[in-house]
This record gives sequence, structure tokens and C-alpha cells, in this order.
Amino acid sequence: MAKFTKATSIKDWINQRLAIEKVEKVMGSEYWIPKNINFLWAMGMVLVITFVLLLVSGIFLLMYYQPNIDTAFYSVNYTIMRDVDFGWLWRHIHGVAASVVFLIIYIHMFTGIYYGSYKKGREMIWLSGMLLLVAFSAEAFSGYILPWGQMSYWAGMVITNLFSGGSLHADGLVEWIRGDYVPAQAFLSRFFMLHVLLIPLAILGLIGLHFAALRIPHVNNQDGEEIDFDAESKKYLDGDKKGSKVIRFANDFMSKDMMVAGIYLVFFFYLVFYNYGFAMDPVNFDPADGLKTPAHIYPEWYFLWSYEILRPFSIDIGLIAFAFAQGIFLGLPFLDRSPNAIAANRRGPAFMIWFWLMLTNMIVLTAMGKLPPEDPYSTIGYWAAILFIVQWLALPIITSYEKKV
Ligand code: HEM
Repeated sequence: MAKFTKATSIKDWINQRLAIEKVEKVMGSEYWIPKNINFLWAMGMVLVITFVLLLVSGIFLLMYYQPNIDTAFYSVNYTIMRDVDFGWLWRHIHGVAASVVFLIIYIHMFTGIYYGSYKKGREMIWLSGMLLLVAFSAEAFSGYILPWGQMSYWAGMVITNLFSGGSLHADGLVEWIRGDYVPAQAFLSRFFMLHVLLIPLAILGLIGLHFAALRIPHVNNQDGEEIDFDAESKKYLDGDKKGSKVIRFANDFMSKDMMVAGIYLVFFFYLVFYNYGFAMDPVNFDPADGLKTPAHIYPEWYFLWSYEILRPFSIDIGLIAFAFAQGIFLGLPFLDRSPNAIAANRRGPAFMIWFWLMLTNMIVLTAMGKLPPEDPYSTIGYWAAILFIVQWLALPIITSYEKKV
């Protein structure tokens, strides 16, 4: 049994039992961060803050939301939006955060791609990050069902139909997922459970894994420099703070993170108070009606690029292309054969072109996904989808020719 001495303070009493000083060192004051990183490295912290906003606003919404197909729509659009004091504020925070979180995730992800932060021991960070993207997508989709408006119902119908596997006609599987022939009470109840319990639990676990995966390789830096963290931190602790290439996470780097987070929160609350409409689909302000199909069913903006990869093809090829688009980013650390873990602009023209083409093409796919499936949009969408697939197939080839810089 460990030795316990008479505590000299409450902190000492807790420390003897929970080693909080050690935890504080490992996660804060002796968690070393390179000096040569820019504001894009604050996106991880911005994501944590947005997740907390989602969690807190979600808890408040949960106090009045009713997961029942007869009352869900009214509990959201009347009880929460009109009857409960500041109910509208929690709903706007939740809706805006649910949309903005994807913008930040995409920025965070493309920062990782640009700086090669998925290579050389950082593969687990990338993989856990991609699993977080899948979990957030499932969380957003299940949340969209809950207000039981027209888009909730029809998006639920269309997305669950994908599980029939095209001409495989796995219809039993679709009904098993829905718990009924069409979206109804069983469907709403299970998506409610997924949204408020199972997926948030998975997200918390995955954030833990993402952070744990960062601990050994440390974060990358904008020069792709291989820093000897032991030697540099020793230099710092010996007093040569200027000469050392690293700083403490808490409170030094945190202050930089908080500065970026502060600017983000001004932008965020501007959206919450003055521009929340972009996060709310007008069609979803009509109650769900299984007998009235909306003229144009489309997903939220963050799913549009992959939806546009599904849409231009016949159903079977479309489903294969869609599965490819969903899964392929997971393979990035293994498909990029380059020996360099540095910024794209220093890796030579091939990867630089690949990166900017991929980013631009995904924006084009997103724009085409929102427009009706008619020419010229469908032709542009078709070629953009082909380009997306070709680019991924070409990646291992172009990167294997890259020379060590
Ligand atoms: C919403 C959930 C997420 C949270 C809370 C989160 C949080 C963080 C934090 C705090 C960091 C360290 C600081 C930074 O580089 O920003 C980080 C790094 C990283 N994340 Fe995420 N992340 C999330 C999602 C993702 C996704 C979707 C990806 C893409 C696959 C990803 C890939 C990475 C990579 C590659 C790094 C290492 C960056 C480097 O070494 O320079 N993360 N994340």
C-alpha cells in the first residue's frame, strides 16, 4: 500500500490520492508545443469549445423536447421557441453550432493535409480524427430527424433508403433500421436515443483517443521540423526559454488558443443573434407529412460534396462512389507515399496541385449538390465527381515520385 502522510492542505490531500500535480504536468505545464505554429493550430481548441456549446445547449433543449411524432414538432417550434424563456437562444446556439462545427472540422482537416500532419507516427491522430468526422456526421443526421419537420422526415427516408444497397434490394435491412415500413414512432425514438446518448458517448471516447494519440508524437509544426522534445523542454526548464523551440501548453500556448477562440466566439454569437437563418431549413418549419414529398430534397451543406458524388451516377455505381468518398480520407496516411511530412508548398508542385485541386473540387461539388439536378449543373457535378475519384487513385503514384526534401 502506498504511503500517506498527514495532508498540509486540501490540495495536498487530493494530490496524495489522485496525483493531480502529475496530471496537470502531463496535460498542461509540461505538455510541450512547438513555437513555430500558426493560428490554424487553434482549430482543435475551437472544436472543443464548439462541442461544449453543443452539449450544454443540447441539455437545455432536452428539458422541453418531446420525442413523440405527435408532439415533437410543437415542442420545438412552439414550446421551446416561444413559451420557454430563452428557449430560442438555446435552439439558435445548438443549430448554429451544429453547422459551424463542420466548417471548423473541414478547416482543421485540410490544415492537417496541407502540413502533412498525418504522417510519421501521427497516423492514429488522423484515424481518430476521421472517426470523429463520421461520429459528428451521424450526430448531425440524427439531430436533424428530431424536430419532425418535412425535411426531418424526408431526409430520414432518403438516407435510410441508401441501406437497401441499390439493386441488392436489402429492403429488410431498411425496415430493421427504421423499425417500421416508413419513418414513424420507432424511428424517431431510436434516433432520439442515438442523438442524446450513444453518439455523444462515442464522441467523448473518440476525443479522448484523439488527444491520447497526440501525446507521443506531439503536434506537427508549420516547417515540418523534427523537434527533439526532450532536449528542447530541458532547455526551457533550465531557463533558456528564448533558445528553446517549445513552450508549455498551459498557460503559454493556451493564451494564444484563447485569443483565436475569442475572435471565433464573436463571429459565432453574431451568427446566433443576427444570422441564424442559414442553419435552419425553411422546409423544416412545416410538420412532417408522409403524403407530401418536398419538391427538392437535399442534405445540409456539409454533406453536399459527398451527396454530389452519389447523384450523377446510376444507383449502384453511385452507391459505390459514395462509399468510396466516405471512406477514402481514412486511408490518406497510407496512400500518401511521400517521405516528407512538411507543408505542401515545400513538397514540390505535384502534391501542391493535388491539394488545391482537391479543396476547390470539393467546393464545386458542394455548390452543385445544392442546385437542382439539371444541366449544366449535373454535367459539372458528374465531372467533378470523376475528378475526385481520379485524384485519389493518382495520389499514391504522384507521391511515390516525391524526393526527400
Ligand atoms: C470535432 C472533433 C475534433 C476535435 C475536438 C479535435 C481536437 C484536436 C486538437 C485539440 C488538436 C491539437 C491542436 C491542433 O492541432 O489543433 C488536434 C490535432 C489534430 N487533429 Fe483534430 N480534432 C477533431 C477532429 C479532427 C478531424 C475530423 C481530423 C481529420 C481527420 C483531425 C485531425 C487532426 C490532426 C491530423 C491533428 C494533428 C495536427 C498536428 O499535428 O499538427 N481532427 N485535434
